Amino acid sequence: MTVRPILIHPDPRLKKRCDEVSDITPELRELADDMLQTMYDAPGIGLAAPQVGVMSRLLVMDCVKDADTAPRPLILFNPRIVWASEERNVYEEGCLSIPDQYADVERPAEVRVAWIDETGAEREEQFDGLWATCVQHEIDHLDGKLFIDYLKPLRRQMITRKMVKLKREREREKARA
Ligand code: NI
Repeated sequence: MTVRPILIHPDPRLKKRCDEVSDITPELRELADDMLQTMYDAPGIGLAAPQVGVMSRLLVMDCVKDADTAPRPLILFNPRIVWASEERNVYEEGCLSIPDQYADVERPAEVRVAWIDETGAEREEQFDGLWATCVQHEIDHLDGKLFIDYLKPLRRQMITRKMVKLKREREREKARA
């Protein structure tokens, strides 16, 4: 398993709709394992394929935060929301592609999601709490949508400017190394 570099916003690949996966190939399974390792390494609770530059409908997540609870890595190909609750929830969200920036986002409190797992089997599960927020955030990535797209334009522009600056600094560091 390899930790892959995570794209930082703004990047055109983070703004595109990803393609459906038609076949769970060994390459895609390897990508999913790499994404899990990349997510745990960051550390984060979710990661979508476009964040590592692959334009396929694949996300990984593990929202277990308690160190005493066993990890629960999930791999979701072609995930789709089949039901969303009327009740809504506000969570302070962040994103590995938008480091150190956090903002409140309102979303349905519970969602039922259908997907294909790494063995090719169809799965369906209802998520609530942090899991519900995370899976919606990651599915948004597959549609080229970021959590800052829910914010007021001024706030979004402010965050984007900070990220442009961060990327410039990282490029400079790389050039120096
Ligand atoms: Ni994200």
